[in-house]
Amino acid sequence: MDDLTSTVSAQDINDAYARLLTVVRRTELQPNDRLSKLYECEVYLKREDLQSVRSYKIRGAYNLMSQLSSSERDAGIVCASAGNHAQGVALTCALLGVCGSVYMPQNTPRQKIDRVRAFGGDNVEIELIGDTFDDTYAVAAQYSRETGKTFVHPFDDPRIVAGQGTVACEIAEQLGAGNEPDFIFAPVGGGGLVSGISVFSASALKQVKIVGVEPAGAACLQAAMANHGPITLEAIDTFVDGAAVRRAGELPYNICSQLLPELVTVTEGAICTELIKLYQTEGVIAEPAGALSVTALAAFKDRIIGKRVVCIISGGNNDISRYPEILERSLIDQGLKHYFLIEFPQRPGALRRYLDEALGPDDDITVFEYIKKSNREYGPALVGVELTRNSDYLGLVERMKAIGLRYEVISRDSALFRFVL
Ligand SMILES: Cc1ncc(COP(=O)(O)O)c(C=O)c1O
Repeated sequence: MDDLTSTVSAQDINDAYARLLTVVRRTELQPNDRLSKLYECEVYLKREDLQSVRSYKIRGAYNLMSQLSSSERDAGIVCASAGNHAQGVALTCALLGVCGSVYMPQNTPRQKIDRVRAFGGDNVEIELIGDTFDDTYAVAAQYSRETGKTFVHPFDDPRIVAGQGTVACEIAEQLGAGNEPDFIFAPVGGGGLVSGISVFSASALKQVKIVGVEPAGAACLQAAMANHGPITLEAIDTFVDGAAVRRAGELPYNICSQLLPELVTVTEGAICTELIKLYQTEGVIAEPAGALSVTALAAFKDRIIGKRVVCIISGGNNDISRYPEILERSLIDQGLKHYFLIEFPQRPGALRRYLDEALGPDDDITVFEYIKKSNREYGPALVGVELTRNSDYLGLVERMKAIGLRYEVISRDSALFRFVL
């Protein structure tokens, strides 16, 4: 813990908290009935999706930018972000009257781009460049070096880590003395939030177990731990855009390697299922990164029984156009949606036989793509089937075999599968 005092201390987080009092919302800490019953424990959701910029990112951004010298502010600032830090920076630019250049990946959801524009107004110019956050970061950092503008890092800066750590101050205050949490589940991108929470907890919530949750397709902090230092992941899945980072921050890594929050990964499909439950049951609009914490509870079900558990819903900037993909990924994750390439004999009645004898009464065809080839015996068709229960799958493939159909299951890691999705 001593090594950390030169980087981020609990005092820095308390100071950040005081600085942020009039700027950030003290978001609700809501008891959640559904998850409490399901896991036989006391689950609370820390609703950072209700923050002014719909994520906790304003905390770090304002804490950093409000401490810049006047020459650093006058130079203008630059940031690179997957879209949420950008909103925190844009709002802070407007509040402090600073000019900012905000770099985001080209595939940033439109909703996030629009919100950055709305918060920053004339103070902010937006550049969309790069396929992933890390590509964008490289260009923005270069621009900052060339122009002398001040770089506002999304996670690798003590002032950012201290700002994000204020989420834990609020949790401690909201639960009150004697009611400290046993677990706090926090999402991880570059590691700013989980390291800030870990520092605060090491001094003020000593018995709490911090769990950092990463998407399986971008687990850069786990990779850093295994490598004894940040390492760049070759390929990442950018679906959980808020947490799709190739390389964990040096400072978050240093903090985490000393304070050792437990790290866990969850699949993108499981995140989608949880995201839909939050929406349908509680009316919570979380973005994929915002649902990471809750998704991880399943892997801890034996350890959290009877405990007090806080899940940080870190953000709610979910572009509406993403919902069809979220629904699809969730159905696949639950084993309710399957794709096949079926070789239909090219004779009348072949499809009817499939419908009558292979498909179960509750199975539904959702995709059927077939091009008739006139001079071949068999013609392949792409068939998507939605089941009512995942246990219906075995019966379906057995009936397909029984009528002699030749078929291939389209595997989740094939290019064809990605084409369908
Ligand atoms: C909604 C949301 N959750 C979690 C994260 C992960 O952030 P960190 O870099 O602090 O680990 C981000 C990062 O942008 C985010 O936007």
